[in-house]
Amino acid sequence: MFEQTTYVNRRNALVEKMDSGMLVFMGNENVGMNYRDNTYHFRQDSNFLYFFGINQENLIAIIDLEENKTCIYGDELSVEYVVWMGPQVTIKEKASQVGISETAPYAHAAKAIANARSKGRNVHFLPQYRASNMIKLADWLGDSIEKIKATYSENFIKAIVGLRSIKSAEEVAEMEKALTTTKEMHLVAMKHARVGIKESFLTGLVEWQATAGGGGLAYPIILTVNGQTLHNHYHGNTLQKGQLVLGDFGADTEMHYAGDITRTFPVDTKFTSQQKDIYEIVLKAEVDCINGLKPGILYRDLHMQAARIILEGLQNLGLVKGNIDDALVEGAYGLFFPHGLGHMIGLDVHDMEDLGEQHVGYRPGLERSKQFGLKSLRLAKELEEGNVLTVEPGIYFIPELIQKWSKEKICSDFLNYDKILDYLAFGGIRIEDNCLITSHGQQTLGPAIPKSIDEIEEIRQLSLS
Ligand code: GLY
Ligand code: MN
Repeated sequence: MFEQTTYVNRRNALVEKMDSGMLVFMGNENVGMNYRDNTYHFRQDSNFLYFFGINQENLIAIIDLEENKTCIYGDELSVEYVVWMGPQVTIKEKASQVGISETAPYAHAAKAIANARSKGRNVHFLPQYRASNMIKLADWLGDSIEKIKATYSENFIKAIVGLRSIKSAEEVAEMEKALTTTKEMHLVAMKHARVGIKESFLTGLVEWQATAGGGGLAYPIILTVNGQTLHNHYHGNTLQKGQLVLGDFGADTEMHYAGDITRTFPVDTKFTSQQKDIYEIVLKAEVDCINGLKPGILYRDLHMQAARIILEGLQNLGLVKGNIDDALVEGAYGLFFPHGLGHMIGLDVHDMEDLGEQHVGYRPGLERSKQFGLKSLRLAKELEEGNVLTVEPGIYFIPELIQKWSKEKICSDFLNYDKILDYLAFGGIRIEDNCLITSHGQQTLGPAIPKSIDEIEEIRQLSLS
């Protein structure tokens, strides 16, 4: 936990931004995997962590703006629980550590919410991503689930996004910690990859390194020889000569700040010349976009810059033809780069995505595109000092997409399908770093992780010698 003043100041700043009513924070509960007591790894809600810091299941927090009172609702644990789970710090004590003197049994939250609703008071709640919390709110407010999904508080969301989008120095330090562990996770994968082992052998090492770092994984590991599948969580392939390994994974600190790094390296000690050609294009896109980061710039413009670099690079290799400006407008790059350039990162790997990407990455007047590729851009708006975000361009050869586009002659003025079909077995390359927007530019967070072709070939050479 941070110091008490951090949580007090955050709540005060939130209250300043809100007019009236009651602010409800639904903490998370344990969820059974295959029966009630065999639970998934517990993850507290990030908004709860941000304002209350308490990493414990079955809690609700309410800030009552009219009564000027904040209360944590939860049931103190019985001795029977202690028999199974060991002695626990009381909720009262944890609440006092974050500057809250009032606690009450869990059931009282339901009463407080129902009571406020019956008096016609404004009950502000956030979009719920867990069914159990949706059901509880529906029950207490006397609304349908559909209504709960539709009537969350936009003002509450905007106030929180405004605060959480700007990282404090202590948050940045926590993210640096996540990235220090994340570096070790990537190094262990780079050092142990070799022909004949399974992807799962490497994911085991990566997860071990994350746990050894004192936290865990910020999101499920992507580590695959099929990097063309963007969120590939299958780890059953055996590494073969000539393949690339794409690793996209990051550590979660004890306080749940995330790292999100991607590196791509050859199973062999060296990239093939075809792999080098594509790698250099992705690397240029990544480095140029990182160098372009600064307050005020539209992140969508940097996304388009990455798309341009990708199209120009592939034009030099003969895969793309025609006028690049027109190809950009038509979205031809979506065949190779179908996702966004990056996203905010913080307590969540896709920070605040539960609150809605339109609030985190867009603003009125800057609407989300419907075009394939650009529509997947999570962050488009002007950057501000204090934002932390990922920069993660990639080039992928997705056989199913290539077959479909070539059959339907999509963007055929710009795409040289005869040549592209030669790359069906290539896979994918993505390179990703995490950057803090500073007053004049950016600071790439965390220790350097091998990224240039020379650095990657060097570590692969050492590992296999
Ligand atoms: N790390 C996975 C993603 O950014 O979607
Ligand atoms: Mn990412």
